[in-house]
Amino acid sequence: MTEDDLPAYVYDLPGLREHVQVIRAALPERVELLYAAKANSDPRILRTLAGYVDGFEVASGGELSHVRGLAPDAPISFGGPGKTETELTCALHAGVERLHIESEQELRLVSTVLGDGLVNVLLRVNLPVDLGQVALAMGGHPSPFGMDPAQLDRCLELIATDPRIRLRGLHLHLASGLQAPAQLALVDKVLNWAEAWAREHGVDLAEVNVGGGMGVDYARPYEVFDWSVFGAGLRPVLARHPRLTLRIEPGRSVTAYCGWYVTQVLDIKFSRGQAFAVLRGGTHHLRTPAAKQHDQPFEVIPDDDWRRPWDRPEARDEPVTLVGQLCTPKDVLARGVMVERLRVGDRVAFAMAGAYAWNISHHAFLMHPHPAFHHLDDVEVPAPGTYAHQMS
Ligand SMILES: Cc1ncc(COP(=O)(O)O)c(C=O)c1O
Repeated sequence: MTEDDLPAYVYDLPGLREHVQVIRAALPERVELLYAAKANSDPRILRTLAGYVDGFEVASGGELSHVRGLAPDAPISFGGPGKTETELTCALHAGVERLHIESEQELRLVSTVLGDGLVNVLLRVNLPVDLGQVALAMGGHPSPFGMDPAQLDRCLELIATDPRIRLRGLHLHLASGLQAPAQLALVDKVLNWAEAWAREHGVDLAEVNVGGGMGVDYARPYEVFDWSVFGAGLRPVLARHPRLTLRIEPGRSVTAYCGWYVTQVLDIKFSRGQAFAVLRGGTHHLRTPAAKQHDQPFEVIPDDDWRRPWDRPEARDEPVTLVGQLCTPKDVLARGVMVERLRVGDRVAFAMAGAYAWNISHHAFLMHPHPAFHHLDDVEVPAPGTYAHQMS
């Protein structure tokens, strides 16, 4: 890769394929796996996943038409707050498999635009559960996502009077960042609550979608969510709910590990004794560390080719803050991370850049060029211990 090719995103599609196969194999029967396209809707990533998932979860009309275009036969669930009348109309025309209903207003809108059609819905609930310390809580406290349990009653009344709307079950995406034991405990709690609610309200509950949120720990890149513990733990949980289908819709934990953002050091500076490496690109390409306030794990790829007639600026055996080219102190990719040596011209490859990375970034800010995108496809994946698997 020459410096003109940088920055670049590199997506490891064979690695992704292997990872999703591991996820799939770990899940017991009666668990359906959807991929949350919002994590990364790169066309080749979606096509790679299409063969291994039971469908896709989309959260906008844009995602819906993008996914439908790439995977015409894939079942699609449409969720997310604030669906417009136009989006709902398109979703019904596109034959979405499930609509996740966020509110009574939204349900009324669906019945207005439904015409002669039929639609399968899940009602999204915000359960008052204590989620403890989680990376991102979408429920368990007042939030714009889903409905309070008491608000489901009005939806049941509306559904009872509209035979075109079939209630399949409930949707509860409550938190992101839970590791397998915590995720299992939450699923158990949610399913018990859902069955009790269904009994009390005379609802024939066919399925519960517990959303995504399987943990990805950017500080411990090797501690991947333990899908085998999760899958094994689900078996006894599901045995207690013999008629239920469980749906999950992870995003981050599926694609985070397959993406790399590769760039180059433009300058090394010292400010009041502290080392800063200014990189080509920045958080307008990879907003994940700014959004989540973490240090993005990275690997230095030394480049020994130095042809300038002056001493090469470098930082050695010291903490360095890696920043981008933006005129804002928030443009930090990793802060005060020890490096053995980092020089102007060296390459830096940021790992775990396959989810909520390019697609959540503010690309237009300062009008820098966009990165290139490369897809490793059916190339030999380096064995552990070689460059591609080392992360700081
Ligand atoms: C409703 C819903 N489902 C699934 C996801 C995917 O979550 P994650 O990428 O953390 O697995 C999200 C993320 O915000 C979501 O809001």
